[in-house]
Amino acid sequence: MSSKARIGIFTGGGDCPGLNAVIRSIVKTAINDYDMSVIGFKDGYEGIILNKYMTMDRDSVVGILTRGGTILGTSNRADPFNFPIPQKGDYVYLDRSSEVVENYEKLGLDALIAIGGDGTMISANKLSEMGLNIIGVPKTIDNDLWGTDQTFGFDSAMVTATEAVDKIHTTAQSHHRVMIIEVMGRYAGWLALASGLAGGGDIVLIPEIPYDLDSICDKLRERNRLGKNFSIIVIGEGAAPEGGSMVVSRTIETSPDAIRLGGVSNQLASQIEGVTKLESRVTILGHLVRGGSPTPFDRILGTRYGCEAIDMVARGEYGRLVALQGRDLTSVALTDVAGKIRKVSLDHYLIKNALSTGLSLGVSRERLEELRKEQELVTA
Ligand code: F6P
Repeated sequence: MSSKARIGIFTGGGDCPGLNAVIRSIVKTAINDYDMSVIGFKDGYEGIILNKYMTMDRDSVVGILTRGGTILGTSNRADPFNFPIPQKGDYVYLDRSSEVVENYEKLGLDALIAIGGDGTMISANKLSEMGLNIIGVPKTIDNDLWGTDQTFGFDSAMVTATEAVDKIHTTAQSHHRVMIIEVMGRYAGWLALASGLAGGGDIVLIPEIPYDLDSICDKLRERNRLGKNFSIIVIGEGAAPEGGSMVVSRTIETSPDAIRLGGVSNQLASQIEGVTKLESRVTILGHLVRGGSPTPFDRILGTRYGCEAIDMVARGEYGRLVALQGRDLTSVALTDVAGKIRKVSLDHYLIKNALSTGLSLGVSRERLEELRKEQELVTA
């Protein structure tokens, strides 16, 4: 690696707190430790295809550590292998991956750092197979990227969701209501489980555990019998009843994963009121959990990820995702990461801790054990 290596970076997919911490760390480490130069592509893969980029010098990252969002912009529609082009009120889809390769070469890049989630890593893996020197950095509030114990952005989203649960608690108590808080997380329940546990919720419903309305209503009635005349339910947007399906709020044709979830809590509230006559209310946190300043944990994790990504460039370790395993940084092959989702393992300590502290997961313990065995067979 020459001492004047040139690195391209971009942020792809849905934003989250900590993106700027990663960008800053990459730029500073590249300049300070290796005298590399960095350019930042705007709006995800779109910037590489359409040649939208900016030079990232020290000044470009001043004051961004604490800022949410991404100074580079992002897109969850710009898949280079299936790029939407508006045409006559509709879209046509083109494979523009060769333009990414051409621009990478034209700009004289030695490496490209893709900061993103599972969609971004699928394309990153394909581009790596086409010969680009790619390194991935794991981002998402969903914490569902395979190969890493934690994505940056998750901790900040969990803190925001937990604060919401704390606030809802007081009004639940005052009005003796069932309060349902719906959080994002797509097909994985990490955010609901962690914020439900941290916020002292009574019931947590996640996509990995199809819920049973009777079990939920029994728990609510039991709380009332014990004189606890309010209850808090935290539900992941991808949760669904046993035998039922997830609630889709909209589909976005141009997005690689077209489905947008949301609204399951409204259904649940009317079912609970119907069965128990307990007054129920819904709060859907939505994009709120993606906003705001990153937590100190995410600032540090993002900084670690950024430094490591540049160290990997210096070592020539390409085609890999920086990952956290335990407390240590490592990396995993993009081929192993691409196309997989890391769901909540029903063996995870958070599941055990939830049950041990009396939190209901919306099913009986016997059913949960069956689901755990099923999951074990699928993942074996
Ligand atoms: O992947 C992050 C995420 O916020 C999910 O939790 C959520 O389902 C989705 O993105 C929402 O996407 P959009 O920002 O396109 O509405």
